[in-house]
Amino acid sequence: MTVLRLIQFTDPHLYGSETETLRGIATLPALEAALDCAQQSSAWPPDVVLVTGDLVQDDPTGYKHIRRVFGQLGMPILCIPGNHDDPAVMRRELRVDPFTVGGHRDYDAWRIVLLDSALPGSASGRLSDKSLAQLDDALKTADGRHCLVTLHHHPIAMASRWLDRVALENAEEFFNVIDRHDNVRAVVWGHVHQAYEGMRNNVRLLATPSTCAQFVPHADEFAVDRRPPAYRTLELHSDGSLFTEVVWVEKRVGGSLHSVYSAA
Ligand SMILES: [Fe+2]
Repeated sequence: MTVLRLIQFTDPHLYGSETETLRGIATLPALEAALDCAQQSSAWPPDVVLVTGDLVQDDPTGYKHIRRVFGQLGMPILCIPGNHDDPAVMRRELRVDPFTVGGHRDYDAWRIVLLDSALPGSASGRLSDKSLAQLDDALKTADGRHCLVTLHHHPIAMASRWLDRVALENAEEFFNVIDRHDNVRAVVWGHVHQAYEGMRNNVRLLATPSTCAQFVPHADEFAVDRRPPAYRTLELHSDGSLFTEVVWVEKRVGGSLHSVYSAA
């Protein structure tokens, strides 16, 4: 049995400035600490890296750091936009190898589907008719492969009043497409800056914390959680089984975490 190994980094919220902070955390050092942690773990090197939205914090000059940080790792970097990305700008900035923005990619027994749920001018998400058709087509033509579907926005309620106001608006249409096929093994998202794991009709549902600040789960109002940066590992087996873990970036890389939190 072959195994496809992925690492997901999400919501780095980078700026052009290397020291700019968001919610008390310098976002570039936080991403670098998360990547450094992954590189020193047994999960490295993965076959594929996923970056699931909010690559920058409304600052297109932040993509140069994405190119520098991820561009030399020697593996495909699959990206989707979030509400703080401009999808057209992001596609232009990441049009070089090893980056892929949107579409789908096949690796052995698995197909990774990359959806754009960004809704211009809104923190909420929506899959356009074109994106829903892209999803349907990708699942229909998967040719026996297991499918992992990625999008930025959460397609289920997170039991957090403020976050659930900025969810995927047409989640029912999304799941209608998923339900028409029997090859989706997992749906993975970012946006919510917290860990979540659930199951719906035998499809794993996975939310991954940010590489910078986290949000307090189940909070009615916006609240920043003091949990550290994180990333997710995914092992996709050729029989369709999936093993996954969220790794919190704590007590490592010398003084890096200190500098990550220095502005808090
Ligand atoms: Fe985010």
